[in-house]
Amino acid sequence: MNTRLAARPVEAFARQDGKLACEGVLLEAIADRFGTPTYVYSRAAIESAFAAYTAALQGRPSLVCYAMKANSNLAVLNLLARAGCGFDVVSGGELARVIAAGGNPRKVVFSGVGKTEAEIARALAAEILCFNLESVAELEMVERVAAATGRRARVSVRVNPDVDPKTHPYISTGLRSNKFGVAYADTLPLYRRAAAMPHVEVVGIDCHIGSRISDIAPYLEAADRLLDLVDGLAGECIELAHIDFGGGLDIRYRDERPPAAAELIGALMARVDARGHRDKMLMFEPGRSIVGPAGALLTRVNIVKPGQEKNFLVVDAGMNDLVRPSLYDAWMEVQPVAQRGGSVHTYDIVGPICESGDWLARERQLAAEPGDLLAILGAGAYGMSMASNYNSRGRAAEVMVDGARVYEVRRRETVEELFALESILP
Ligand code: LLP
Repeated sequence: MNTRLAARPVEAFARQDGKLACEGVLLEAIADRFGTPTYVYSRAAIESAFAAYTAALQGRPSLVCYAMKANSNLAVLNLLARAGCGFDVVSGGELARVIAAGGNPRKVVFSGVGKTEAEIARALAAEILCFNLESVAELEMVERVAAATGRRARVSVRVNPDVDPKTHPYISTGLRSNKFGVAYADTLPLYRRAAAMPHVEVVGIDCHIGSRISDIAPYLEAADRLLDLVDGLAGECIELAHIDFGGGLDIRYRDERPPAAAELIGALMARVDARGHRDKMLMFEPGRSIVGPAGALLTRVNIVKPGQEKNFLVVDAGMNDLVRPSLYDAWMEVQPVAQRGGSVHTYDIVGPICESGDWLARERQLAAEPGDLLAILGAGAYGMSMASNYNSRGRAAEVMVDGARVYEVRRRETVEELFALESILP
């Protein structure tokens, strides 16, 4: 493992003489150099979050497959790949990104309910570690594509364990009512079919019960249900090489106190050992907990608009840059980059987009003037990866801070690039 990596948590953003900085670099300097809105990531924070997983798994056969939907910038993927990380992908596009970033396709698991034949063929050609199957139809499709290309596909079944992760309904995935995974009762018959197919090799089992989980109890419940299946399969001479517990660990946005990766992994390992499965490779698919705290969205106040019922700070980032508040009613911390004097008011912090849903934070107390910089914290996950070009807005720049150095890892889109793929009728 890379010796730069330490399991000690790194705070990506802290104040230096009252001014917010990322690692050693003032956010003011980043805004001056790259403009706003800009996503700012800390290399050390990403690497230390990853190291927290690998340190807890030390001495065991294991693989952490970063759920790259959380943040798929090539620089992020490349740093993680260099540290030995694998990847959880959900599309052919994500697999192509892993390869472009220097990731090892043999450490890739492919999740998702709607894989296409073309995506499956590409993943087979890249020799990925396994397909996390989500339906009978998908198993049949994988067998068909593997047969046609003369390959053998490694598969795992994504079990829907029907446990309640007690999280936002949009991001809970392991309930019977969700579209994800194979219903618990249908799992053994599916494995039997897979085991009998000539172009499929059964290698594992997996589950992912949801996101923003701040309690280990639902993980343990899901683990017990998975281990019951592992035992049932062994009784039928279907031996699995790995157990993948998915991702989902929450981060601290406001006052949440999610367990550390080590706590979750320790509890799961105890369960696995107690059930006699120490030999199995343990896998995880964390997304948010690897990159979330490592990133902030830097934005500038454009207009201060006092109102009769509400006061608004109109900033230069909008819901197209960061959709989590409007989509999930998510609370994200907003901090002034420089603390200023002046009178404090209660503001809704909104973007320039023509939608009332275009808000980033509500009822925050701060003193602000046009030109001030604000940082929205915890934005490293599901920020840029969910950004759009709504209102013909080019997406934000992304920069990575590495000690005293700053690298632009995605430049700001130009307006011409937004319509470059379009054409008019003759
Ligand atoms: N594995 C699978 C199969 C997943 O579907 C996901 C996330 C993960 C792993 C990683 O979960 P995480 O560790 O990041 O919680 N856009 C939402 C979150 C959607 C999560 C989708 N699946 C948000 O901004 O809160």
